[in-house]
Amino acid sequence: MPRTEFISTGLYVPERTLTNDDLRQWWDTSDEWIRERTGIETRHWVKPGEQAGSDLALEAARSALDRAGMQPKELDCIIYATLSPDYCFPGGGVYLQRKLGVPGIPALDIRNQCTGFIYGLSVADAWIRTGQYRRVLLVGAEVHSTGMDFTPAGRDISVLFGDGAGAAILGPTEDEGRGVLSTHLWADGRHAEQLWCEVETSARYPRVSHQDLDEGRQYAIMNGREVFKHAVTKMPQSVRTALEVNGLSEADVKLLIAHQANLRINEMVQRQLGLRDDQVYNNIQRYGNTTAATIPIAIHECAASGRLQRGDLLVLTAFGSGFTWGSAAVRW
Ligand code: UT7
Repeated sequence: MPRTEFISTGLYVPERTLTNDDLRQWWDTSDEWIRERTGIETRHWVKPGEQAGSDLALEAARSALDRAGMQPKELDCIIYATLSPDYCFPGGGVYLQRKLGVPGIPALDIRNQCTGFIYGLSVADAWIRTGQYRRVLLVGAEVHSTGMDFTPAGRDISVLFGDGAGAAILGPTEDEGRGVLSTHLWADGRHAEQLWCEVETSARYPRVSHQDLDEGRQYAIMNGREVFKHAVTKMPQSVRTALEVNGLSEADVKLLIAHQANLRINEMVQRQLGLRDDQVYNNIQRYGNTTAATIPIAIHECAASGRLQRGDLLVLTAFGSGFTWGSAAVRW
């Protein structure tokens, strides 16, 4: 059976860049608070009405296609991971497919929030190894900025998130030692409301009411401390699983890319795993938390800059709303 390799990667973020100080026009916050607690310095936001998530996904996909020297018509399938689809339905994948101009190929949406890219990678890997599809476009794309609470109450969440997209084109390799070695997925729905967005909801009628809007229920809410506590436990565990299953150890890791939710979380994960600074990559400083897009954006930056070289052991881990979490080991 072949393994799944990354043929190419791409990224796109909107041009509009906001510093921490820029956010003070809406919220009582400070550069110092945001940097100290999260490491974030800037983030990119769309200009509302000008770009949707599928537009960001399209640019990231085009960049990956260009780097692979491929045309969209060579793709067999699209997997689109997002918690912020352009519309409630249909999913973002069909809009991306339409914009790429490839009617007919399947487009699957993945709704696993911060772990979406790893869930998508697991599905793509299974399809590719079994021969169902040979060229899979896997995208993580988010637009958070149009869903933010711009009243004072929104400061705790809104300063954390950015918009962006990352893409990977995946395909089979017969090179035995290389490719995706394993993927590992978990979920625990007992914690679903620790980080969630209640409205709109099909659980009652009407799905969204005037009262909901007046009370701000259309905005995401998070129990930050609880999410933090679980993230710093589950991500190291998931990395250890990925290493053990493959008979590897922390010393073998060339690069760990963890979901970019908070630099402090990732520093704790690094410490628990006993990894050196050169074994981890973080870019939350520039992008904030772009949910399903953080991992493919980081992979692309490492691949494009030469930080990832053929044969390197890349380990991915993510944790987020659901709770969902996961990991993957990849021989680049
Ligand atoms: O990607 C999905 C997964 N998400 C995560 O992994 C996020 C996990 N959680 C976290 O990263 C952290 O919990 C946060 C960065 C979100 C918050 O850090 P914290 O140390 O847990 O802060 P806190 O929520 O306990 O708030 C501390 C103080 C509060 O003031 P008082 O009650 O101590 O007076 C907040 O009101 O900071 C205040 N605060 C702010 N101050 C300035 C909350 N947001 C802000 C803000 N600017 N933006």
